[in-house]
Amino acid sequence: MTDPIDPAAPIADATRVVQGGRRSEWTGGIVNPPVWRASTILYDSVEDLRTNARRDTHHRLFYGRRGTPTQWSLADALTELEPGAEATMLYPSGVAAIATALLAVLSPGDELLVPDSAYDPTRSLASGLLKRMGITTRFYDPMVGAGIAELIGPATRAIFMESPGSLTFEVQDVPAIVAAAKARGIVTLLDNTWATPLLFRAIERGVDYTILACTKYVVGHSDVMLGSVTAGPGRLEALRTATYQLGQCVSPDDAWLGSRGLRTMKLRIDEQGRSALAIAEWLKGRPEVARVLHPALPDCPGHEVFARDFAGASGLFSVVLKGGGDAGRIALIDGLRHFGIGYSWGGYESLVIPIDPQFYRTATKWDAEGPMIRLQIGLEDTGDLIADLEAGLARFSAA
Ligand SMILES: Cc1ncc(COP(=O)(O)O)c(C=O)c1O
Repeated sequence: MTDPIDPAAPIADATRVVQGGRRSEWTGGIVNPPVWRASTILYDSVEDLRTNARRDTHHRLFYGRRGTPTQWSLADALTELEPGAEATMLYPSGVAAIATALLAVLSPGDELLVPDSAYDPTRSLASGLLKRMGITTRFYDPMVGAGIAELIGPATRAIFMESPGSLTFEVQDVPAIVAAAKARGIVTLLDNTWATPLLFRAIERGVDYTILACTKYVVGHSDVMLGSVTAGPGRLEALRTATYQLGQCVSPDDAWLGSRGLRTMKLRIDEQGRSALAIAEWLKGRPEVARVLHPALPDCPGHEVFARDFAGASGLFSVVLKGGGDAGRIALIDGLRHFGIGYSWGGYESLVIPIDPQFYRTATKWDAEGPMIRLQIGLEDTGDLIADLEAGLARFSAA
């Protein structure tokens, strides 16, 4: 006789991404939740309508903006990847997710702390709309760690983190920053798009709101814009209220594509991470390269934190070329055969862009030995990508 299965036994992430958010009451015998399109929901009577309006509409059909099982299924699957989380809300892009989470926690007169390495639209939200609303932002050195305590002032209400920074890849000491924030009753938010919960579990480490640009690894196929915020214990209500008040919602078709992508996310991240590290290590040995900014390489700022806290690396990193100028960088990029030139990352295909982080910084100075490029490594053959880059580096040297 075999032992009975313990329903409380831990489940591995590979299993969670396959099973998460699938409920037989939503799907019957169908494996994937169908696309439930809706704006109007019909009620049986006035009494039925009135009762529904008074009820908590979480996981109840109410009106299209509050979602249908198609969106709830994806939201639940993301929540299940963050043990201890209360729930997940979905947004029409990663930037919408960041904006809504910040608006949920900030009020006029508050101060927000943002790392100098943050994604530029996050900076621009802070310096634009939030500033107009009377919220001030102080940009800080992403490597500050426990030293964040000294930056916290009487008006500080929230600390934003992005780890690693998506251009320069400094890994932040999230647990140290969270500890300092908790000691002062300050809310923490993390843009966890690079790692996803598969490589860094944010809620377990005390982060209040963990944000994903699902456009990247969750969707994984470069064809949908989508964002999510997963709330830690006691944090859902403020987020949900702001989400509803701002009218944020996601189409069932996009949510369905998000769920479709999620099922293979672990396989893709593992493979893209393996290939990216092999390419990063190869680039590090090249005479045309000054530095490779990849959290798994020992000289990356915050590597010891990465080694302590992360389950692995995903497929995005940057390269500082040695000397040379923009003409050489353009020659390198324009001639590549297997890398598309375009924004975003986390899809199945390789991409490259030129980056100039020095123009975005205000709290710290960014110095580099030469022009920089950012590589998103896809699922192509690693050898093909290396051969392509080798030819590109030859063009860089020749220019
Ligand atoms: C780190 C990071 N966060 C958030 C976003 C925004 O996501 P979206 O493009 O879905 O608005 C991006 C997009 O490039 C990003 O790189």
